[in-house]
Amino acid sequence: MLQTELPFDPPKSAMKNLPYRGRLSDLLKGELDFHGQKGGTAVHAWHAFPARFPPQLPGVFINELTQPGDIVLDPMMGSCTTLLEAVISGRRAVGTDIDPLSLGLAQAKLNTADIAKAEVSGHELIEKVKYRLSNGKDALGKILKKRFDAKTKTFADYWFAHDTQFELIALINEIENLEDKSLRAFFTLVFSAIIITKSGGVSLARDLAHTRPHRVAEKIPGSAITEFRKRLRRNLRHLTCRPYTGSLVVGANSQRLPLKEDSVDLIVTSPPYASNAIDYMRAHKFSLVWLGHSVSSLGRLRRKYIGGETISDAEMMPLPEYSENIVSRLTALDQKKGRVLHRYYSEMSRTLSEMHRVLRPGRAAILVVGTSVIRGMNIEIRTCLKEIGEHQGFEHVHTGIRRLDRNRRMMPARWNSNNTGIEARMHEEYVVGFLKPGR
Ligand SMILES: C[S@@+](CC[C@H](N)C(=O)[O-])C[C@H]1O[C@@H](n2cnc3c(N)ncnc32)[C@H](O)[C@@H]1O
Repeated sequence: MLQTELPFDPPKSAMKNLPYRGRLSDLLKGELDFHGQKGGTAVHAWHAFPARFPPQLPGVFINELTQPGDIVLDPMMGSCTTLLEAVISGRRAVGTDIDPLSLGLAQAKLNTADIAKAEVSGHELIEKVKYRLSNGKDALGKILKKRFDAKTKTFADYWFAHDTQFELIALINEIENLEDKSLRAFFTLVFSAIIITKSGGVSLARDLAHTRPHRVAEKIPGSAITEFRKRLRRNLRHLTCRPYTGSLVVGANSQRLPLKEDSVDLIVTSPPYASNAIDYMRAHKFSLVWLGHSVSSLGRLRRKYIGGETISDAEMMPLPEYSENIVSRLTALDQKKGRVLHRYYSEMSRTLSEMHRVLRPGRAAILVVGTSVIRGMNIEIRTCLKEIGEHQGFEHVHTGIRRLDRNRRMMPARWNSNNTGIEARMHEEYVVGFLKPGR
């Protein structure tokens, strides 16, 4: 082998000798694109999720800035990329989110079921479903009728073909009857993954994963049973028998973290975009209605997502100067949007304040944010969140820039349309690195 072909990995080892702040700064200034690199365990891709991290992103910070046994937090965990990377490398992981789908994914991904059991049980489940579809359709019809309230039924009838509804109710009913909790979580994830896909899965929607669904009358969805079997086979390949230990997932709002102060060693997180640019609930309700949630309850929950557009009951916070100025400029253009932005920066102020409270002194918080344009105005998220973070007591160390891999990342659909200057910035992401002073 030629000398130049030898594996070469000096930054990692050299970095371990640097003081903590220097390591953090070097990481933020280093390569953060990760294009063309393999993205950790395939478990990350078990289910589509908009604006998911490449696993290497939390991975590098976890590996360089923590030790085995340390506690890593993601207060807006989404598809739980940070948590999974943390537990795989022997750290303890804590995650919160308010999205029921996110909490379900965490249950399935972090408490892996036994592969042998899952294989047998999956096969039995599909056979039972097939039997019930050919021999017990009347009974299934009754279960389906009882499943939804009137509003949710209207939603289901609009977005799912009649035959698909029977297949889905048969599947979810069998899954719910399983006694083993981790198998139930695993199969529920598989069930949801056949609905929420880029192409709208077994629903009549397109562009679901972009969270901008539209109904396509001529779409003939594949059989839900066939899709379930395919997805099950694929996900089973990556199911490990090793249950990950040391993770805690809580359905909680990032603005009120149920954690003690100074209790966490590292935070890696990415908040939603402002002004509902990615509307999680709009896509997630396609599977959540099948998991027992009503359209009305999901509508109420949607108002609580950071970046939401309802302002009637929003609790506004005073903002530091630059952010206040951005909000005023947008308000002059569009009063309603100005208030929506004020709500977003207020929610992020409370979240950053909580992140600061629970982090141990001398430790890092990494916030990954994109670019947002409202009414043609760049609302300077990275600069404002840096300022708000400092206002809450953090020291800003550096903001790294990463170029998004357009082929891999699911962005809001309209951002993929043309290539103007602002479009180019839409495909960048900023990795804002904070340190909690005091040690
Ligand atoms: C950009 S996504 C996170 C994606 C994640 N980094 C991943 O790799 O999958 C933002 C997440 O914030 C969550 N979120 C929105 N409002 C929240 C709140 N008030 N408290 C906690 N999480 C919230 C959303 O449900 C969503 O899962």
